[in-house]
Amino acid sequence: MKIIQHKMNIDIPLPTQPLRYIGSKYRMTPFLIEQILKLKKSYFLDEFREVFVGTGSVSFEMMRKKEFSSFLLNDIDPAITCYFLAIRDYPEQLINRIKTSEFSKIFYAESIIILKKLQAVPLCANEIVNIAFRKLFVHRYSFSGLGVKSTTPVTKGNNRWNDLKLIEAVEILHARAKNSNLKIENKHYFEFLAEKNDRALIYLDPPYVGVGEQVYQFGFNFCDHIHLAESIKNSPHPFILSYDNHELVLDLYSSWTKIMKVPIWYPNQNSRKEELIITPLKSNRIRVYMGVVNPLRKSCSFIPQKISFSKIKTKVK
Ligand SMILES: C[S@@+](CC[C@H](N)C(=O)[O-])C[C@H]1O[C@@H](n2cnc3c(N)ncnc32)[C@H](O)[C@@H]1O
Repeated sequence: MKIIQHKMNIDIPLPTQPLRYIGSKYRMTPFLIEQILKLKKSYFLDEFREVFVGTGSVSFEMMRKKEFSSFLLNDIDPAITCYFLAIRDYPEQLINRIKTSEFSKIFYAESIIILKKLQAVPLCANEIVNIAFRKLFVHRYSFSGLGVKSTTPVTKGNNRWNDLKLIEAVEILHARAKNSNLKIENKHYFEFLAEKNDRALIYLDPPYVGVGEQVYQFGFNFCDHIHLAESIKNSPHPFILSYDNHELVLDLYSSWTKIMKVPIWYPNQNSRKEELIITPLKSNRIRVYMGVVNPLRKSCSFIPQKISFSKIKTKVK
C-alpha cells in the first residue's frame, strides 16, 4: 500500500465557474492540475478527458494552460451536457437569457420538473440553451449547489445571481472551449475507459461513496463504485481519480495504485476534509514504456531518456 500525506496550498487564485455544484473540485483545481501535468509528462498524451465532468473546473483551467491539444467533457446528466454545449456553441443566446432573467419560485419549481424529466440532450439549439439556462438557474439558487435535489430555492442572504459576473464567466469559458478542440458527450463513463484505440489521460471524479446517491440526480450505489474500480483496472488509459477518504475506496484501490491524502479546508462550513487522489503506480508506467505489458501503447517505439535501461530491467516483472 502506498499512501502519501500531502499538504496543499489553497491560496492560489481559482478559475471562474458559473455553475454552483455539490462536489465541485473548484478548491482543489490547482492541486489537481499539478498532478495531471506530472502524469502528462510520464505518458506523453495529447488529449485530456474528464468523464464525470460536473462544472468542469479542472478541464477549463487545464484549457487555460494549453497543455493538451484536445479535450473531452462527459457527464451522464443531459442537462450538464446542454450547459457545456451552450457555452461552446451558443454563448450569446445563453448570455441573453442570463441578462433578461428574473428570479421566481415558480420558474425554479418548473425547472426542477423539466430537469428531472429530461432523458436525452435535445436536438434543437433553442432547447439546448433553455435546458442549459434552467440548469444554471436551479444550481445557483439551490442550497449548496444541490440542484434538483433541493426543492426550495435559497432566496436570502447571499448574492447568488450576479448578471455581470455570470456573463463574464460564460465568455471566459466560451473562449477557452473555442480554442481547445473540445468534444462534449453525454454517455456512461464506462464507454471512455473501455475504448481501446485513441488513448488519452482520463480524469475521474465520481459521486462520493458517503453521499453519492442522495446529492446527485445521477448518483452511485455500492455496486457502481466496485464496477468503476474494475473498469479502471482493465482500462488501457492512464488515469487520475479523486474520491472521498472512505474505507471502501482504500480497500478497492490501495493494492494497485498510488494514493495521496489531501486535506481541504472548507471556510463556509468551517471544516477540514480529506480527499484522495489516486494515480497508477510508477511500476505500471515503466511497464508501459517498455511494452512488456503493453495496454497503453499501440506500438512501443521509444524509451524515455530519464529512465536508464538497467533501471527499467530491474523494475519490470
Ligand atoms: C462529483 S461530481 C463531479 C464534479 C466535478 N468534478 C466538478 O468539479 O464539478 C460527479 C458527476 O458524475 C456524474 N455521473 C454520475 N454517474 C455517471 C456515469 N455513470 N457516467 C458519467 N457521469 C456520471 C454526475 O452527474 C455528476 O455530475
